[in-house]
Amino acid sequence: MKIFLDTADVDKIRSLAETGLVDGITTNPTLIMKAGREHKQAIQEICKIIKGPVSVEGIGETAEEMVKDARVFAKWAPSVVAKVPMTAEGLKAVRVLEKEGIPCNVTLVFSPAQALLAAKAGASYASPFVGRLDDVSERGMHLVEEILQIYELYGFKTQVIVASVRSPMHVTQAAKMGAHIATVPPEIFGKLFSHPLTDKGIQQFVEDYKKAESAAKAKK
Ligand code: E4P
Repeated sequence: MKIFLDTADVDKIRSLAETGLVDGITTNPTLIMKAGREHKQAIQEICKIIKGPVSVEGIGETAEEMVKDARVFAKWAPSVVAKVPMTAEGLKAVRVLEKEGIPCNVTLVFSPAQALLAAKAGASYASPFVGRLDDVSERGMHLVEEILQIYELYGFKTQVIVASVRSPMHVTQAAKMGAHIATVPPEIFGKLFSHPLTDKGIQQFVEDYKKAESAAKAKK
């Protein structure tokens, strides 16, 4: 499973990219606003750091506006993916853009029917928002399971990006289900590395190493 970072914070991206484990980036207008950055500049910087796909979202409402925005984004870097909302207009835009070779990420997917339509429209990616479904007492990860089942039955090439991830559990569940990608906020990415028993084990090994060294010195 690929791991994308769900952020527009260039410093955090730069630092986490050093792990070699970041396969791509997803952004949205809220994340760009939180990063306090200008859209184009931030995306171009991100694309220099991360070689994988970088999703960029506009605010167009009609297919025409979305296509126009996406064509501009695609010129910023070859790795740009156009993020398009899950609406009828959005899917019209997907048809046009994918034919032009601009990959699309259909965002704000909350039902299996929406995911089916996104795949039929030819989207490269579909993003079910699991955390936001959990927030309204629906089972976000169950949606992912249903989407994967439909895509497998019909051999759709659309890759599922598990989005709106709120915990390491979302990531491991996504991996167990065979989701293609999980897009993860930097704080959750950090949590994936740690376990208290790992820390305890390291501490013990360091202490025992030092004990062994001083015992050996004392024998000399
Ligand atoms: C990813 O593509 C989405 O923009 C993001 O995961 C949304 O997450 P949120 O529900 O935490 O805002």
